[in-house]
Amino acid sequence: MRDMNQDYQERIRCAQLRERVTSAREAAGWIGDGMTVGMSGFTRAGDVKVVPAALAERARREPLKITLLTGASLGHDTDKLLTEAGALARRMPFQVDPVLRAAINRGEVMYIDQHLSETVEQLRSRHIAPVDVAIVEAVAITETGAIVPTTSVGNSASFAILADKVIVELNLAQSAHLEGLHDIWIPRKRPMREPVPIMAVDQRAGAPFIEIPPEKIVAIVISDQPDSTSSVLPPDADTRAIAGHLIDFFDAEIAAGRLTHSLLPLQAGIGTIANAVLAGFADSPFDHLTMYSEVLQDSTFDLFDAGKLDFASGSSITLSPEKSAQVFRDFARYKDRLVLRPQEVSNHPEVIRRLGIIAINTALEADIYGNINSTHVSGTHMMNGIGGSGDFARNAYLSIFATKSLAKDGRISSIVPMVTHVDHTEHDVDIIVTELGLADLRGLAPRERAEVVIANCVAEPYKTMLRAYVAEAQQRGGQTPHVLEKAFAWHTRYRETGSMLES
Ligand code: COA
Repeated sequence: MRDMNQDYQERIRCAQLRERVTSAREAAGWIGDGMTVGMSGFTRAGDVKVVPAALAERARREPLKITLLTGASLGHDTDKLLTEAGALARRMPFQVDPVLRAAINRGEVMYIDQHLSETVEQLRSRHIAPVDVAIVEAVAITETGAIVPTTSVGNSASFAILADKVIVELNLAQSAHLEGLHDIWIPRKRPMREPVPIMAVDQRAGAPFIEIPPEKIVAIVISDQPDSTSSVLPPDADTRAIAGHLIDFFDAEIAAGRLTHSLLPLQAGIGTIANAVLAGFADSPFDHLTMYSEVLQDSTFDLFDAGKLDFASGSSITLSPEKSAQVFRDFARYKDRLVLRPQEVSNHPEVIRRLGIIAINTALEADIYGNINSTHVSGTHMMNGIGGSGDFARNAYLSIFATKSLAKDGRISSIVPMVTHVDHTEHDVDIIVTELGLADLRGLAPRERAEVVIANCVAEPYKTMLRAYVAEAQQRGGQTPHVLEKAFAWHTRYRETGSMLES
C-alpha cells in the first residue's frame, strides 16, 4: 500500500511548496474575523472539506464571522457546520442546505442570491468586498505552482487570482486522471475586454490549471475525503411524462425544419426534475447531442453510455453514489468528451446566445402568463437560489421551464394566477412543461399564453379555478389581465388552511 506522504509529494510537483504543507487547524488560522473567504465547490463537487470544518470548530470557541463566497452549493455539511457555529455573516451566490436555509429565512445570515455568472464580475469590479483568502481544492500542484482543480471549477480560479492569500486542499481521494480536464480562461479587465473565445462546446481557450504566483499559497492541507454525492431522486412517472412531452416537441421542431436530430447544445438545471428529463433523452430519436451546461449530473453519463451524447461542457460533475463509483473508475473512457470551465464561462450570456443553447430549468411555480418563480416559497422563503437558471433562461435559443403540475400531494398547484416572486419574466420563457403537457409560448400575447398554459399544463380542479380567474380578470381588461385582490388568494389560502384548494 502507498503511503499518503509519498502520494502528496508526487502531487505537489513544485518542490518549494512542499514545505507549506500544514494541518487544517493551522491553515484556518489565516482566516480572521470579518474576512471575506472564497471557497471552491459547485453543486457539492470539488468543495474544500477539511479547512471549513476546522474554521467551524474555531468559530465555536471564539468570535469569528465571515462572508462566504463559493461557486455554488457545498457538500460535507459545510454550510450546516458553519451556520451552527455562527460563522456566517453573509453568504453568496447559492446554497441548498436546510440548516443554512432556515438561518437565512430567520434573517440571521444575509444571503445574496446571484446569477452564477456574475459573482466574479462583481469582485473584479470591486462592487463587493474583495476576497481576503481563497481556499481551493486541488488534485495536484504543477512544477510552476499552478493549481489543478478537481471535480469543479466554479469560481475557484478567480478567487485564487483575486485573493491576497490562497490555501490549497490537496485531495488524494480525487482521481489523478482529472488533470487535463479543465479549461481555465479568464477575461481581461474592462475596457480591454475581449470576446469569449468559445465558438463550439468542445473548444478550449485557456490553460488546464489555475496560474497564480506560488508565493500566494500560504498553506497546503492534505485531505482524502471523496466528494459528497448528489441526492437527486430517480426518474418517476411524472418526470418521464415531462421528458416525453419535450421529446415530442423537439420532434415537431425537427419536422418543421427548425432543429436537426442533434438539436442544439443542451443545458439542464439542478435537481431531480432536470436530471430525470435529460435521462429520458436516452430513449429519444436524437443523437450526436452536445451539452453546454453548468453541473453535469448522472444523466450526462447515461447519455454518453446510451451513445446519444458526443460532448459535454460544464463547471462541475456531481453524481449519485453508484454513478460516481462507475464514472471515476472508468474516467479515461469519458475524459476526452468532457471539459470543466469557470462558471463565468459555462454560464456566459455571450456564449449561451452564440451557441444557441436549449435551456431546461425547473420552476417552483409558474403563472398563467409565463413568469417563473424558482426560488421563493410563497414569495418570501428562500428555497435554494436562482443559480445559473437566469444566465441561461435570458440568453437561450429556447428557454424551457419544467415542473410537476402539483406539489405537496396536490395541496399546491405549481401553476398559479400570479407568481409570488419573479426570477424569470414572461419575456425570458418560451416553453412551460408539466407531466400533463407542454405550453409553447413563442409568439403568443399574454391572453393567448394564459389559454395554452391552462389548457395544457394544469391539473383539475385548479384548471377550472384558473379559467374562472381569467374570465373575471378579462372583464377588467388590460394587456395582462389580473384580479389584483385575488392574485395571491391561493397562496394565502395555503398559508391559512394548508391547501390551495377551495373548501
Ligand atoms: N411551493 C412550495 N414548495 C414546492 C413547490 C411550490 N410551488 N413546488 C415544489 N415544491 C417543493 C417540493 O414539494 C419539494 O419539497 P421537498 O424537498 O420537501 O420534497 C421541493 O420543493 C423540490 O421540488 P422537486 O419537485 O423535487 O424539484 P427539484 O428537486 O427538481 O427542485 C427547484 C426544484 C426549483 C427547487 C430547483 O430546481 C432549484 O433550486 N432551482 C433553482 C436553481 C436553478 O434552476 N439552477 C439551474 C441552473 S444550475
